[in-house]
Amino acid sequence: MNDSYLIKGGKPLNGEVVLSGAKNVALKTIIAALMFKGDVILKNIPRINDVLDLIGLIKSLGVKADFIEKNTLVINSDGLKSNRVELQYGSKIRVSFMLFAPLLHRFGECFVPNPGGCRIGARPIDRIVSGLKALGIKVDYDSDTGYYHAKIINKPRGKYRFEKPSHTGTELLMLVGLMTDGKVEIDNVANEPEIDDLILYLTAAGANILEEGNKIITSKSPQLKQKKPFVIMSDRNELVTYATLAVASQGNVIIGSIKEGLIASFLEIMRKTGAGVEKIAKDKFRFFYQGKIKPVDIETSPHPGFMTDWQPSWAILMLAAKGESVIHERVFENRFSYVEELKKLGAEIDFIDIKIDNPENFYHFNYEKNNKYQQAIRIQAGNELHNAILNISDLRAGAALACAALLASGESIVNGTSILERGYEDFVEKVRKLGGEIRKI
Ligand code: EPU
Repeated sequence: MNDSYLIKGGKPLNGEVVLSGAKNVALKTIIAALMFKGDVILKNIPRINDVLDLIGLIKSLGVKADFIEKNTLVINSDGLKSNRVELQYGSKIRVSFMLFAPLLHRFGECFVPNPGGCRIGARPIDRIVSGLKALGIKVDYDSDTGYYHAKIINKPRGKYRFEKPSHTGTELLMLVGLMTDGKVEIDNVANEPEIDDLILYLTAAGANILEEGNKIITSKSPQLKQKKPFVIMSDRNELVTYATLAVASQGNVIIGSIKEGLIASFLEIMRKTGAGVEKIAKDKFRFFYQGKIKPVDIETSPHPGFMTDWQPSWAILMLAAKGESVIHERVFENRFSYVEELKKLGAEIDFIDIKIDNPENFYHFNYEKNNKYQQAIRIQAGNELHNAILNISDLRAGAALACAALLASGESIVNGTSILERGYEDFVEKVRKLGGEIRKI
C-alpha cells in the first residue's frame, strides 16, 4: 500500500480549491440513515478513508450502501440484521459508538466496542454513557471483552444535562431521543454547525427536533423517511488547511463553497495576521499573501470560537510569520503530536505552561489535577524549514505536516498518509492543481 507522500516544497501555491463535503457530517448522516426506512440518498459525501471504513462497517451489519456517482451515496438499511459491531471496525472507526442509536432503534439492544480512532489524548465517552443511562437505557461495560451492552428497558424519556458539552455526544443523544414516546430534553449541548446540518437532514425526514437556546428537545417522531436527497455541507476544516497553506507559501488561492458564518472566527483571526482575505462571490473566498505575516496567538474553543481542528494548520501559518506566537489548546488534551515532527524540519517550538486559575472549568476535557498535560506551545518563527522524513499520528496533524513539507526546501517524505486521507478527499490532486509538487510513494 502506498502510504507516503514525496513532497518537494518551497513553491507558492496558486489557484482554486473546491471543498469536499464535511467529514463530520458525512459520518453522522450515514449512521443516522440506519434509522430510516427505504432508500436514503446523500450527496456531497467525501470519498475519504473514514467514510469508506464506515461503509464497510454498516455493510457488515447487512445494510446496502453504494456510491452511484463520485459523491452520491445510496443507503438502504431495511436488511439490517446484526446488532453487534465487530471489534475490527469499532477499534478503527471512533464514531462507530454512534451506532448505539440505530441499533437500539431496530433491535432494542446492542453490543458496541469501546471506540478507537484518532490518537488525541484519552477521548473517553463517559458523558455519552451517562447521558444514555439518564434517558433510561441500561448500559453495561465488560472490561474483559471491551464491549458495551446497551438495552432499552422503557422508551427513552427525560432530561440530561451535559456537564461539559460534547459534539458527537449531543448528536447521539438526539438520535436516541427520536425513539421516545414522550419527550427528551438535552441541555448544555454542543453548538457546532455540523450538528445543525444533521438536524436539517433528520427533520426533513419527519423527526421532531427543537433547538431552544442551549437545549435540544426531541419528541415522539414518525418512522423517518427521506423525501428528497440531502446535500451535506462543505468541510470548513478543509478550507482552513488550504487557506493557511496558501498564505504561508506566499501564494494566492480561491476556496469555495462555504457559508461565511461557518468560518467567521477563522476569517477574523486570519485578517489580524495581515493576510489578504477577500470575499469574491457568495460562499467563495480568496486568501493571499500580501507581505509580512504578523504572529497572532490563538486559544481553541467550541463553535463559534477558533476550532481545535484548525490549530495544527495555524501552527504552520505561524511558522511563516515574523515573530513569536502561542497556541493554547482547550478542547482536547495533548493535541500536539505534530510538534516533534515539525522540529525535524528545523522549526523552533516549545511546550509552555500557561497558568489557569480554574483548569477544571477552562478545559473541555476531564481535567485531572495530577495528570501531566501539554496544552500550549510557543512558536519561534524565522528559521528556514528544510526537508525531513515526517510521521503522521493523527488526522489534522497529518495535514499540517504535509503542508509544512510543502513550505520546506528540498524533498521530504511524509509517512502514514492514510491517516490524513481519513479526512481529506483528493489531497494529492488538490495540492497538485495549486502547483504543489507532491506524489504518492
Ligand atoms: N469528552 C469526554 N467525555 C465524553 C465526550 C467528550 O471527556 O464523553 C471530551 C473529549 O475527549 C474532548 C472534549 O470532551 O476533550 C470535547 O469532545 P467532543 O465530544 O465535543 O468531540 P468529538 O465529538 O469526539 C467532534 C469531531 C472532532 C472535533 C470535535 C470538536 C467528529 C467525528 N469528530 O469530536 O473532529 O474536533 O468534535 O468540534 O465529529 C477531526 O475531524 O479530526 C476531529 C477530531
